[in-house]
Amino acid sequence: MNSVNLPRKVKIVEVGPRDGLQNEKEIVPLHIKVDLVNRLSKAGFQNIEAAAFVSPKWTPQMADSESVMSQINRTNATVYSALTPNLMGYERALASKVDEVVIFSAASEAFAMKNINCSIEQSIERFKPIAEAAKKDKLRLRGSISCAFGCPYQGQVSAEDTTTVVKYLLDLGCDEIDICDTIGVATAGQVQQTFEAIFKFASPELFSGHFHDTYGQSLANVFAALQTGVSIFHSSIAGLGGCPYAKGATGNVATEDLVYLINGLGIETGLDLIELVSIGEFISKAIGKQNGSRVGRAITAKNNQS
Ligand code: HMG
Ligand code: MG
Repeated sequence: MNSVNLPRKVKIVEVGPRDGLQNEKEIVPLHIKVDLVNRLSKAGFQNIEAAAFVSPKWTPQMADSESVMSQINRTNATVYSALTPNLMGYERALASKVDEVVIFSAASEAFAMKNINCSIEQSIERFKPIAEAAKKDKLRLRGSISCAFGCPYQGQVSAEDTTTVVKYLLDLGCDEIDICDTIGVATAGQVQQTFEAIFKFASPELFSGHFHDTYGQSLANVFAALQTGVSIFHSSIAGLGGCPYAKGATGNVATEDLVYLINGLGIETGLDLIELVSIGEFISKAIGKQNGSRVGRAITAKNNQS
């Protein structure tokens, strides 16, 4: 089945190595991070968010990002991305030969202050030299908007709050923009309303949906976004993650669950579900956590029975 209104293909950006692992309290050994990225590369992801060149005082788990980037086996088919909050982060990312840098702000002032220690407008000023440098150095530039549907500190966030930041990021020349439900509170109607507001002035191909599953709405939100024309989604293997600056937020939608939904709609991902399930099992065991993917748990249980 594939409704005429849905895209024929989607791009899945695997954010487990960054958004997923950043929230782990115990430092995950470097060789496990490298092994995870290598397995994901082999699985055929077009885009893997592998590192974050943020301040190690703010997010200690990401302090070994240079080592991760230098030790992974890259494939030409994969774009390797990293977060760059400021020029210092950009220089680190450039030296590590990332393919894409990710500047990140928020649709909520309160969250911008907690996460990157500045206002939304200050963050945009901070990103201007990064955007210029990325163009000069021929790196892809992605912009992420946190708390696009709700904020742990401020509460409600309107579609207008989000479209304002979308316009700033478009002006900076972003090649792709992520509309992020950082704390997983969005519902399907709100997702449609926000994307429809954006698509009044911008093209759907530029936008991704980044959903966390705190309230169990992430797959419904993916389906709602698909119906508005979104064809890029972020997810993390085994549903890893959360945000250190958003207490109680759970992981991203699990990649395995996302692919199961997308497969059922007859939409291409270029990924093999069974291979993803085995990677989800690997990382869950490696960090001593229950696998956060419902599909991963179900398929593993079935395989163990037979
Ligand atoms: P600040 O403290 O205001 O920065 O942090 P500063 O310029 O005053 O520098 C303070 C110290 O940090 C200095 O060191 C700098 O050298 C160092 P000191 O002199 O004290 O020894 N420093 C750096 N070191 C390495 N790399 C850098 C860097 N920058 C400064 N790039 C800053 C401001 C933006 C740096 C900080 O707030 C930060 O790193 N924030 C990022 C926090 C984070 O990692 N959050 C999680 C990722 S975002 C997320 O998860 C949401 C997302 O998934 C989407 C969604 O779901 O919403 C993307
Ligand atoms: Mg996130």
